[in-house]
Amino acid sequence: MISVAERMSRIQPFFVMDLLARARKLEAAGRSIIHMEVGEPDFATPQPIIAAGQVALAAGRTHYTPARGIPELREAIAAHYARAYGQQVSASRVVVTPGSSGALQLVMSVLINPGEGVLMADPGYPCNRHFVELVDGKPQLIPVGAETGYQLSAELVEQAWGEESKAVLVASPANPTGTMLSAEELRALHAVVRRLGGVLIVDEIYQGLVYDATPSTALAIADDIFVINSFSKYFGMTGWRLGWLVAPEPFVDPVDRLAQNIFLSAPTLSQHAALHAFSPQVMEILEARRLEFKQRRDFLLPELRSLGFDIPVTPQGAFYLYADCQGITEDSYRFAQTLLEEAGVAVTPGRDFGFHEPESHLRFAYTTEIGKLQEGVERLSRFIQ
Ligand SMILES: Cc1ncc(COP(=O)(O)O)c(C=O)c1O
Repeated sequence: MISVAERMSRIQPFFVMDLLARARKLEAAGRSIIHMEVGEPDFATPQPIIAAGQVALAAGRTHYTPARGIPELREAIAAHYARAYGQQVSASRVVVTPGSSGALQLVMSVLINPGEGVLMADPGYPCNRHFVELVDGKPQLIPVGAETGYQLSAELVEQAWGEESKAVLVASPANPTGTMLSAEELRALHAVVRRLGGVLIVDEIYQGLVYDATPSTALAIADDIFVINSFSKYFGMTGWRLGWLVAPEPFVDPVDRLAQNIFLSAPTLSQHAALHAFSPQVMEILEARRLEFKQRRDFLLPELRSLGFDIPVTPQGAFYLYADCQGITEDSYRFAQTLLEEAGVAVTPGRDFGFHEPESHLRFAYTTEIGKLQEGVERLSRFIQ
């Protein structure tokens, strides 16, 4: 019997997938389900981007591109930083990747030797620890709570740093909490990581989906930070599998060499379509969507709080609310299952995001229209009573 590699014992599936499969089954049987578990925008890709993809397809753009991406797109991404954040970034540092997932895989591979550690927040995006496992590194999960806005702080990093530590990964805004790091907090983190001889990686995938903070980028702090981004969330292009990485200059060639080997290139059609993602017409569509997400957050947050969910830090971005449900249940996984069966509301249990108090947390995604959120809240209220 040929065995699966040992590292696979440390790679977990998304628990919510079982829940989603059950939700689909119930829907197929005629039940109405309110989806608050989905981690992607409900909006389709903006029409001008789709049209550009169709033109590229008709023109036969079906071959590989350079591993770093087509030069025009790398230039367009660099220009976006200048326009949106007043930040000059050389296009030579931009590498286009298959989603930010591709970027995360490249960064971990070029940075982490077997046994070296990457510090990250718990709760956090679960794939992060798996990207570290994939290169036989050591995910170093740091429990975080409301005191630090569910983010790592300079102090937490300093306390948790060990001999084997090599890098710190943060996301702002973050999944599952929607909370952000201020420019000062990020600067303090960078200073401590640099002093400890490590590298800071900042995942800015939810950049643009920010509701009451000033838009910013970690690229403004220093040029030795790895910055990861994506067309998935703000640009509404999850299925096109396109993201990017801004790497410190000395790492660009190793990243390119590895990208050549593991991806050859990011999807060609998607790259040509994304050339239109920064046009004023698309930006207008995306701004309207951002305002709609804000409206949903402003509706859902007080409603959940009034039902007895504790959300101590107001999330400033992304499309998630991470709620402490201790006042309602001691087992968020069972609660999510019963909520789906009995009330037809799907939410994500805390155990999908790590090991720190998962049983007392649930993630609500406001990736569905406000009328459905209203219905979801009514069902939740009846269910809890
Ligand atoms: C924090 C975070 N990083 C990265 C990703 C990966 O996204 P993609 O590969 O679609 O860019 C996700 C997806 O949910 C995420 O939440």
